[in-house]
Formats: sequence, structure tokens, C-alpha cells
Amino acid sequence: MSKLLHISASPRGSDSESLRIAEVFVDAYRQAHPDDEIEHWDLWDGSLPNFAVGAKAKMTVFAGGEPRGAEGEAWAAARRTFERFDSADRLLFSVPMWNASIPYVLKQLIDVVSQPGWIFGFDAVTGYTHLLAGRGKKVAVVYTSAVWAPGLGPEFGGNFQSPYFTDWLQWTGLTDIAEIRFHPTVTGDRAAERALADTRARDIAKEF
Ligand SMILES: Cc1cc2nc3c(=O)[nH]c(=O)nc-3n(C[C@H](O)[C@H](O)[C@H](O)COP(=O)(O)O)c2cc1C
Repeated sequence: MSKLLHISASPRGSDSESLRIAEVFVDAYRQAHPDDEIEHWDLWDGSLPNFAVGAKAKMTVFAGGEPRGAEGEAWAAARRTFERFDSADRLLFSVPMWNASIPYVLKQLIDVVSQPGWIFGFDAVTGYTHLLAGRGKKVAVVYTSAVWAPGLGPEFGGNFQSPYFTDWLQWTGLTDIAEIRFHPTVTGDRAAERALADTRARDIAKEF
């Protein structure tokens, strides 16, 4: 039995394109895998810890020390966040483009959970190791934008959304990644693009 964890980064509720496509995915997943556990983690629900003190704790750990006091508490909060993130073997992310990149709550999750010994190892000679690799985890990502679209020129903005997020996933060791995209731009046929995204979401969810 698997657990699907849907991590969502849009705060726009019923107006959200990425949440809507993710719901199509989750419904198809539920039908195909009726015994699996499904959890939704809305990154806007206030559950992400502040990482100001955590950043100090991180450097303490990186230098081989043990965080104590306020640093210890921040480190424990980060650990609880990591454990929730690591509790599933099937991960669905819904990710709007914000200012050519990802919403800051998703970056906050990345900054909180990406810790030495949890997500990565490091050796001064050989560099990084990727601690989530080889654990049979699968990832699906819903990417949406409203102006940028593949094939448009730089006057319609850049794309640091999927390149950045894919780089992070791969750095953690999560390399089995499927993408579902909705990039209709301003002049596109939104209904047709939605139908394409929904079909792809259902197809991936059934085999996920
Ligand atoms: C704060 C903010 C920044 C955005 N920046 C961009 C952008 O740089 N490029 C773009 O194509 N769309 C941008 N958009 C539009 C969203 O990517 C688009 O509406 C997307 O569908 C939002 O996802 P959602 O519907 O799931 O909330 C932005 C939207 C918001 C709210």
C-alpha cells in the first residue's frame, strides 16, 4: 500500500488552476488505488515553521555540532516538517508560476526540509549525495502559468519554475518525475488546454 501526499502551493482555493488539475489527479488516483492513503498538505495553512533560527541550527549541524536551546527547538520543528514530507512514497506537487519561479511557501518548504543527513550528504572531495534516492518514491508535478508558455519569447517572461523545482527534486534523489502542464498564456484556448491537462493528469494518476 502506498501513501499519496499532495503538497499544494496555490492560495487561490476554488479559483486555482493547479489545485483543480491536482484534484482531477487525486480523484483518478483514488479510483485506481482505492486502498491507498491520501493526504493534502496546503502549504498556506500555517504549518511551515519559520526558519530564521533554524538557519543557525543548520550551520551548527553542518559544522558537526548539535543545536541546543532555541536552535534545538527550531531544528526539531524542521525535523517534524521533514518527516511529514518523507511520510509518503507518492508525491504530487501543484505549483503555480510566481514571478517566473515558484511561490515562496514552496521555497520555504524546500529551505526547511533540505538538511544534511535528511535530504543530502556532503563530502568535500566527492560533493553531494542524494538521500531520498533508491527508495521507490515517485513524483508528479502540476505546473501552471498565465503568461509564460513554452515557445514564447523573453517578452512573455522567463521560466525558473520547473527548471528550479526539477533541479531540487533531483538533488534530493527524487528522479522519477512526471509533469502535468497548463500554460495557456493570455491568448490560448483555456478550455482546450484544461482538457489536455486533465487527460494527462488522469493517465499519470492511474499508473502512479
Ligand atoms: C503572485 C503571482 C505572480 C505571478 N507571476 C507569473 C509569472 O511570472 N508568469 C506567468 O506566466 N504567470 C504568473 N502568474 C499567474 C499564475 O502563474 C497563473 O495564474 C497560475 O494559473 C496560478 O496558479 P493557480 O491558478 O493554481 O493559483 C502569477 C500569479 C501570481 C498570483
